[in-house]
Amino acid sequence: MCGLPFPVDENVLIGIGTADDAGVYKISDELALIQTVDFFTPIVDDPFDFGLIAAANALSDVYAMGGVPKTAMNLVAFPLAKLGGAVLREVLLGGIEKLKESGTVLIGGHSIEDDEFKYGLSVTGFVHPKKILANQGLKVGDCLILTKPLGTGIINTAIKGGLASQSTIDMAVKIMATLNKYAAQVMTQFPITACTDITGFGLLGHLAEMISGTEIGIRIDSSLVQILPETVEFASMGLVPSGSHRNRKFRENMVELKSNISPVMRDILFDPQTSGGLLMGCPENQAENLVKRLIDNGVEESAIIGQVDENLKGIIRVE
Ligand code: CO
Ligand code: CO
Repeated sequence: MCGLPFPVDENVLIGIGTADDAGVYKISDELALIQTVDFFTPIVDDPFDFGLIAAANALSDVYAMGGVPKTAMNLVAFPLAKLGGAVLREVLLGGIEKLKESGTVLIGGHSIEDDEFKYGLSVTGFVHPKKILANQGLKVGDCLILTKPLGTGIINTAIKGGLASQSTIDMAVKIMATLNKYAAQVMTQFPITACTDITGFGLLGHLAEMISGTEIGIRIDSSLVQILPETVEFASMGLVPSGSHRNRKFRENMVELKSNISPVMRDILFDPQTSGGLLMGCPENQAENLVKRLIDNGVEESAIIGQVDENLKGIIRVE
């Protein structure tokens, strides 16, 4: 996208130039708009579950910026003759359920006929202009906290191959359909320095964005990273989405894996996630308390997974 003659406006606080989760536009000294859009092809067979996941995923970027979602619009591309209206209705019902849970109203949308089904939403939220959380801003010594387990890309690959058990599918759906709302509600009460949500670039890819172009580095303790059941088994069988390899090729010059890190663990740390958790930086002296509060508020898989290290300039070291 570089080199395109984008329009400029002084009220753009976060625009297309940074790799942030959403754009932010200042309306007044007290109010800024957050805007984001996300859509994709079905990742699970159940249409209602797909609706839940697509909406949770679309809402997530507003939470990652420290905001509160307010309005949303449906985006639908649908092969009506092939799938039938009842399927679409189930998907939209799933989306509506998550919008209600998040306190967001649906105010419109657009649908077209398409050979391949795609669904998602554009979401608009509010944030105080001084309380925006961007993906850069980490400080030396900050602890890194992740709020959901990894593995959804690998499990979705196993689902497509017909190899995932129903209990694993149910667990992955539950994690992907979980709103980052509850994590964000706790997070915004702490002096968070930077935040993003883990999606297509995987944990290591999003960490790389957080330090790209800066003088700081990150140490990750892989034993502290929560992983969904059966993810290690599936990854060992080679059920790794191509996105994981793409993510690795893109960022391997910034990542240093200690010799104890297996290729399977590496693939999991680069696994593209759907509707993944929030990844936040917090001063060390508040990090334990933040994790405790997250867990007390139902964000049970939250964990400190690493720390910002000034000696690792621009490098992520995985131990
Ligand atoms: Co995001
Ligand atoms: Co996004």
